[in-house]
Amino acid sequence: MLKIILYIIILAVLIGGSIGLWHLYDVNKRNQKEMTPYMGAPVAYQNDLGRVLVVYYSLSGHTKEIAEKIAAYTNGDLYEIQTVEKMPAAPMLHFAVKKQLKSHDYPAVSPIMPDFNAYDTIFVGSPIWWYTAATPVLSFLKQADFLKK
Ligand SMILES: Cc1cc2nc3c(=O)[nH]c(=O)nc-3n(C[C@H](O)[C@H](O)[C@H](O)COP(=O)(O)O)c2cc1C
Repeated sequence: MLKIILYIIILAVLIGGSIGLWHLYDVNKRNQKEMTPYMGAPVAYQNDLGRVLVVYYSLSGHTKEIAEKIAAYTNGDLYEIQTVEKMPAAPMLHFAVKKQLKSHDYPAVSPIMPDFNAYDTIFVGSPIWWYTAATPVLSFLKQADFLKK
């Protein structure tokens, strides 16, 4: 009897996990479809942003790729937000992030901040996690002081 219950639990976890992964895949596909009409031909870029800093957090590389492109276009510096502790791997990541968002207890990030005073324009790039910015970015924004001194 116990064995059957265990099998049912494992099956439920597998089905739940698969539905979750399918949902993320589907959202990603829909996002791409929705954004395609706005991706016109490349335009010549005029950099009048002054000294540029591109701050980003990226777990699987998408945001990093975009951040690097912005830095290249703007001749800017890059700063990667790094968590003090490694984020858990999926699917635990999704549960952990949900908990962090609910409790506002975001993962600690490196306290070594860039010198914001050295820049005129600061981009902050983040993946979307549960309809908002990734929690390490929220953590960064909490501890960053952008006000010119
Ligand atoms: C925990 C978690 C939650 C996510 N939530 C969303 C979401 O609400 N909406 C969405 O469009 N994508 C969501 N995604 C997908 C990521 O935003 C997407 O994969 C992004 O490109 C990852 O960026 P990165 O490669 O820089 O880490 C989520 C991903 C993770 C890991």
